[in-house]
Amino acid sequence: MNDRVLLDVEGLVVGYGETEILHGVSLRIARQELVAVVGPNGAGKSTLAKAVVGLLRPWSGSLRFGGQSIVGVAPEELVRMGIAYLPQLDNVFQTMSVRENLELAGHLRRDRRDERIEEMYRLFPDLERFARAPAQDLSGGQRQMLALARAVMLEPVLLLLDEPSAGLSPALADDLFEKVRELKELGVALLVVEQNVERALQIADRAYVLAAGANRFEGSGSDLLADKEMGRLYLGG
Ligand SMILES: Nc1ncnc2c1ncn2[C@@H]1O[C@H](COP(=O)(O)OP(=O)(O)O)[C@@H](O)[C@H]1O
Ligand SMILES: [Mg+2]
Repeated sequence: MNDRVLLDVEGLVVGYGETEILHGVSLRIARQELVAVVGPNGAGKSTLAKAVVGLLRPWSGSLRFGGQSIVGVAPEELVRMGIAYLPQLDNVFQTMSVRENLELAGHLRRDRRDERIEEMYRLFPDLERFARAPAQDLSGGQRQMLALARAVMLEPVLLLLDEPSAGLSPALADDLFEKVRELKELGVALLVVEQNVERALQIADRAYVLAAGANRFEGSGSDLLADKEMGRLYLGG
């Protein structure tokens, strides 16, 4: 297999309790690639992300990161291996200050912590302005930037973002997608789960469409944007 492949998911089957949700999903991400996963509510996008970051154990199929199987590897160990995750909900500590949120995010990687916080302030200037404020005082957009910065603090090789633009106005979502593009330029590979299909396809190198727990379409962002059936089903056009 091509050694540029960073994450290789093959035939992933997983669910909750007795209920199977993903029925054999496959996906690949190359180093420094920005891949979007889109699809209707309940398609299994968050479930896929949770399986990749070790929060759900696959029932069958393979998960390989840098050529090595990561099935059964604990979430903290995956962080050390370079996989960071921004969950869909509850992704900042509301009563802690912005700075404390960043410090806590860095606890798994103590080296260069203050230096990395300074890097986050450069990337997200609002966070420095509000460093001493509790996270709950931030606007929705600033809070999402803080959540993103917390994940970037871990210096990931692969960063999974679950619906980072949820709840943001179109203008704030644009700012956020701009930051996501910047992270790619810094050399991070990104898997971005999005309900904003059009924007996700615009920024993605490649994308996968999931529907009812299975792969439905895949291709470059621009090809999917131009695809008639894709447009009819998922782009309202
Ligand atoms: N913790 C859970 N326990 C049981 N079922 C769940 C749980 N989380 C999600 N599901 C179910 O799994 C399916 C896929 O959910 P999810 O992966 O969150 O979809 P998406 O992120 O694409 O909206 C849905 O039918 C949802 O109800
Ligand atoms: Mg979801």
